[in-house]
Order: sequence, then C-alpha cells, then structure tokens
Amino acid sequence: MPANNNLIKELVNKYGRDRTSLMPILQGVVEQNNFISDMDMTEIAKELDLSAAQVFGTATFYSFLDTIPRGRFVIRVCKTIICDMHGKKMILQTLENLLKIKVGETTQDKKFTLLETNCLGWCHKGPSMLINHDVYSELTAETVHEIIAEYMHK
Ligand code: FES
Repeated sequence: MPANNNLIKELVNKYGRDRTSLMPILQGVVEQNNFISDMDMTEIAKELDLSAAQVFGTATFYSFLDTIPRGRFVIRVCKTIICDMHGKKMILQTLENLLKIKVGETTQDKKFTLLETNCLGWCHKGPSMLINHDVYSELTAETVHEIIAEYMHK
C-alpha cells in the first residue's frame, strides 16, 4: 500500500516538522484512514527527519494508533477491573454474538472492529465502551443491541 503522501504533507504543514508534531500527525493519519501503514511511517520519518524506528516505536506504543487496517467503526470495550466487575464479559459476548467476530477481529464488510482497551475514565458508569470517539456507558445487553443496530444503519 503506497504512503498517503498528500495527507502527510498536509499534516506536516499544519503541525510542523518538530518532533512534537509526531503524535498529531500520526493521529491525523489514523483519523483519515483508520490505521497507519508501514509506508506512512516511513514517509513521516522522512518528513520529520526521524528514524523509521522512532516513528514505528511511537505508533506501536499507543493502542489507539492502529498500525493494521481496522473497520469503519472501531469498538473498544474497557477491560479494566471496575468495568470487568460490572459485566464487561457479558458486554463483550453480546458484541461478539451480534457482530459474529471475536476480539481483535474485523467484520467481513469492514464495518466493525472489536477490541479491548484500558480504562476510558468512565469507571463510575461502567461497563463502558468507545465506538470511534463516542463513549457509551452503563451498558447492558439491551443497550448494546440498540447501539449496534444504530451503527448497522450508518
Ligand atoms: S474501568 Fe472501565 S472505564 Fe475505567
């Protein structure tokens, strides 16, 4: 897959060539394409005069910076202890049954990816999950059905 050179140039022009621009540039690529390819990382390294290893190291350190292709809607279910105690397993199972995929997988139509993540900061209202940038909390099997039904029609 070729690098998104135009997008990367646009982001470099917006955020600059400083080392501190690396995160917003990586986030900008993920925002646009749902993941950062190896070619993108190489191109970003060239633009910012960093080694490819530095860019790769940063991109793979943060779980929100996906380095493999994801679905249009990335669902991240909180796996941290409080959500776990409040029924996270049942939420995950409901999602797996609805989407017919396991954690870490993407639906065949590339619409949904199901992942687990660390605390989303909504522990007081767990179990919680994120779909792209939207937080859903106090989840039950019923609300998960309703939420996914809405996304199915998007
Ligand atoms: S433990 Fe799940 S949001 Fe904090």
